[in-house]
Amino acid sequence: MDVERSGGSSGFARVGALLGWVGCGVCLLYAAFALASALEAVLAWRGVVELDRERAAPFLFVVHALTGAVALAAGALQLRSTTAAGGGATSFHRRLGWAYAVCAPATAVAGFLVTLDYEVGAGAVLAFGMQSTLWGGTTLLGVAAARRGARASHRAWMIRSYALALFFVTFSLVHPAVVALEWSRAATFGLAVPLSTALNVLGGELWLRARRGSTAVAASPSR
Ligand code: HEM
Repeated sequence: MDVERSGGSSGFARVGALLGWVGCGVCLLYAAFALASALEAVLAWRGVVELDRERAAPFLFVVHALTGAVALAAGALQLRSTTAAGGGATSFHRRLGWAYAVCAPATAVAGFLVTLDYEVGAGAVLAFGMQSTLWGGTTLLGVAAARRGARASHRAWMIRSYALALFFVTFSLVHPAVVALEWSRAATFGLAVPLSTALNVLGGELWLRARRGSTAVAASPSR
């Protein structure tokens, strides 16, 4: 019975690890897209290429997309390597952690400033502001917990923070679905932004529950 159970749970663990790597790969692809968008904006600025439409606040957009690419990639690699290695503050973990901790709030602040020039209506600007505050805030709480040596709290805030970093991914899926409703631009953004944030917050909490569940199973005396 025990053998069957452990066989079953190691099968689950392998599927979980595979899904984790697939997720990490998807995040790296989105990071590559963000990097390409930043480079394209720089080339457009220098008159080398022409864009279909001008970027809002071009300089801030470049900062936003560059720091966003680093945050997305560093966070994905960090969470994956921490899970695969079972945790631990190696120097690789610290370097990736600082890259994420600096770039995530920078992306959130620059993103919000870009929003002010994006003409999406007051409701969407408020929702973008909420997203920036939650993302920057959870990241800073995660860093503060790490500085105090509170590892469990650090991990929980960083999972919440990275779930909010995935706004870039969620929004790219939610926005086209809301566009299909054919509402005004302000209404489309006014729904798509808070909906994406809500899905990210929910996803972060489910992720934490799943982790707590798997930690409890691993620590159970029958195993
Ligand atoms: C990891 C997170 C993020 C990354 C990597 C990222 C990166 C990008 C990229 C590459 C674009 C261009 C998209 C396209 O052309 O289709 C973009 C657009 C934009 N982002 Fe972000 N973003 C992130 C999060 C945020 C956040 C949190 C906000 C605001 C609170 C924000 C505000 C905006 C705005 C307003 C635009 C439109 C700018 C324009 O096209 O003129 N982003 N972002």
